[in-house]
Amino acid sequence: MKPSLIVLVALNDSQRQRLDALFEVHSGKQLCDIPSEQLSVAQGLLAHGGLTLGEEQLAQLPQLKAISTISVGYDSYDIEALSRAGVTLSHTPGVLDETVADSVFALMLSCARRIVELADWVRDGQWQGSLPKSYYGCDVHHKTIGIVGMGRIGMAVARRAHYGFGMSVLYHNRHSKPMAEQQFAARLVDLDELLQTADFVVLLTPLTTQTFHLIAAAQLAMMKPSAILVNVARGDVIDEAALIEALQQKTIAGAGLDVFHQEPLANDSALLKLPQVVALPHIGSATTQTRAAMSELAVTNMIEALTLRQLNHCVNP
Ligand code: DGY
Repeated sequence: MKPSLIVLVALNDSQRQRLDALFEVHSGKQLCDIPSEQLSVAQGLLAHGGLTLGEEQLAQLPQLKAISTISVGYDSYDIEALSRAGVTLSHTPGVLDETVADSVFALMLSCARRIVELADWVRDGQWQGSLPKSYYGCDVHHKTIGIVGMGRIGMAVARRAHYGFGMSVLYHNRHSKPMAEQQFAARLVDLDELLQTADFVVLLTPLTTQTFHLIAAAQLAMMKPSAILVNVARGDVIDEAALIEALQQKTIAGAGLDVFHQEPLANDSALLKLPQVVALPHIGSATTQTRAAMSELAVTNMIEALTLRQLNHCVNP
């Protein structure tokens, strides 16, 4: 009998065929869509990055051996609980770096050049003459970018910043990155110096107990009044209430946000009342090509984990 696999994500035909050839596949949108008798025999779970999975859900999945998530982030999974239960978790690093780096620049440019605000202004029929000076934006090129978290995506952002925009690159990371220093003239600094100096502060760090509310009121107060904060990491890397206060008081100039404390963002969030905020629905990696590559890798990870016990891209081998 084929091992049983639960799939909570949409896959293309060829990915589905790869799995059907090896597993008894049961699909749904959420775990609660899957009947308990199928949960009780499932050995694999293919899911997305937003799934909350801890002791409670594991209790429903007593045979589970491997989870494969279509995301690079895995903060919604309780890794200690998974390891205690002998369940491996694999993720999809490497295939989304360039796309997420593009999203960072989309947010930086949108905030700096007031793209969303001015596109709405044109749509509202307000373009009656030359642009009032009060709508001028600020330059991105040749400014200073501060990258918090210099992993693969950070490197892709630094490359764009250095070669494409002639920017000075500062970074804050647990370890120095000699490649970034050689290739992009990047300079390792402590977080305070980065916040005090950068025109664009870009958050790319994973959400962990160390990075929860890394950017809170005290850190926001260190930023320049002209600075723009960009977050494509996880919402809780920022204390969102403190950010709203800083934006309302104009102690920073703007924020480009792809991730939030609560997703989907509530329609009545104070962030949506601020014209200097560009809020996106967690689209960092959301291009057709990149999402397909992430799904393909997640399918391969699942097959390798369950059939070969090969643990590529596994976060708790
Ligand atoms: C990721 O891959 O972690 C993205 O944020 C999507 O969840």
